[in-house]
Order: sequence, then structure tokens, then C-alpha cells
Amino acid sequence: GRPDALPRDLDGRRVVVSAGGTREPLDPVRYLGNRSSGKQGYALARTAVQRGAQVTLVAAATIALPEVAGAELVTVGTAQDMRAAVRQAAVGADVVVMAAAVADFRPTDRAEYKIKKTDREPDPIGLTRNPDILAELVQARADGQIGAQVIVGFAAETGDSAGDVLEHARAKLKRKGCDLLVVNAVGEGKAFEVEDNSGWLLSADGSERAVALSSKSHMASDIWDAVVPLIQA
Ligand code: CTP
Ligand code: CA
Repeated sequence: GRPDALPRDLDGRRVVVSAGGTREPLDPVRYLGNRSSGKQGYALARTAVQRGAQVTLVAAATIALPEVAGAELVTVGTAQDMRAAVRQAAVGADVVVMAAAVADFRPTDRAEYKIKKTDREPDPIGLTRNPDILAELVQARADGQIGAQVIVGFAAETGDSAGDVLEHARAKLKRKGCDLLVVNAVGEGKAFEVEDNSGWLLSADGSERAVALSSKSHMASDIWDAVVPLIQA
């Protein structure tokens, strides 16, 4: 594209974007992970730089992606690492976008040495809940500990017997308390490891906007278009 054709509507803003999937170790060589590519978070960071923001990209595991020139990169492993990095970067930020796929659980025990197989069946893997980074950010803002005027969450949803994609997403927006929720409809090969992405932008004020199937960089522009009016002068 033509960078000079982009609006400079994030000039002087400090933005934090998380990306990729956390990895939760079982032992020094094994982990529980997920299939997040990091593409959407990287696209958001790149677009924010192009629109004038000072960007911190907090990246967990991703596929090989071109670096985001002009952004500060902080790489992390686990959800707990990501929580610390995001929290630190969020202190003076105007906007925090949680595009990362954060593991909900981690193995309760992390073996110091590589786990060996024996003649008997293996023990089950015990799991412990990870902190909810997004919900904690909303709480920290309410407590006056961070600025972050705008907090954006992501949700990858499928419909199930309890409700359709949008019903799940509306409930998640309420539960999380963020200002904007980017909803991806997943299943049937959508969103994960593919170039295109489709869904909705749900705002805390109740407004809802469908986002047409488009590239992740186009989707990033749509997301920033929705965020900018929420930032106060
Ligand atoms: N998230 C987070 N910390 C976690 C889990 C999720 O900050 N421990 C963030 C994600 O980065 C995303 C949003 O919360 O922006 C929603 O993640 P999602 O997995 O869809 O929500 P959950 O509350 O974990 O619900 P679910 O049971 O559907 O996984
Ligand atoms: Ca989750």
C-alpha cells in the first residue's frame, strides 16, 4: 500500500498489542500451546505504526512473520510472562489490544528435567487456571493503576448448544468489561492459519458492526477506525 495515504490519527499515541500463542511448559522441552499464527496482532501493530502510534508489540509464539519496523518488540513465553509484559507496557498506554491467544490453563507442575517414559502408563497432566490478562487490565484501569483509555479484546467463537457466535460474544464482552470486542467466527477452517478473517466489532455501548471478509491488514484498519473515536483528545 501507500503509507502516506493512511490517516495519522494515532500520532503521539502509545499503543500496546499482544500477539501469538502462549506456551505453557511441561518440562524443559515440552509445552502446551495453540495454533495462533500471530498474524492479526502483527497486522494491528504494523498498521498502528503506519498511523503514527508508538507501539509495543508483546509477542508470544508465532509463525515466521516479518518484523514490525518501528515497534518495540517484547517476546514472551507463558501467559504469566505475557501478563507481566503487558501490564508493564500498559501503564502509560492510550490503547491496549489483546490479540494474543492466551492459554486458559497451564500444567500445574513443571518438571525440572525432561519427563522420561517408564513401563507403566503416564500420570495425567494436572492443570491450573492462568490469570485473565484482559479482565485484569480492565480492573487495573478501574483502580486507577493504568491509563489505557481503550481496552480491546478478541474472541474466537463457534456456535454451540448454548448459543450462536454473537450470543457468546455479547456475553464475553460483558464478562470481560473491555471497550471493544473483535469477534471472529471460527470453525470450518476460518481464522486459524488462514490469511482472511471475518467477524464483528462489538462495542461496550451496544453498537455492533459486521466486518466483511478481508485480509488481516484490512481488518486491522477497521479495528483502528473503531478505536480512534474512543480515545479522548
Ligand atoms: N485473554 C486474556 N487472558 C486469558 C485468556 C484470554 O487476556 N487468560 C484475552 C484474549 O487475549 C482475548 C480475550 O481475552 O482478547 C478473549 O479470549 P477468549 O479465549 O475468547 O476468552 P475466555 O474468557 O478465555 O473464554 P473461553 O472459555 O471462550 O476461552
Ligand atoms: Ca480462552
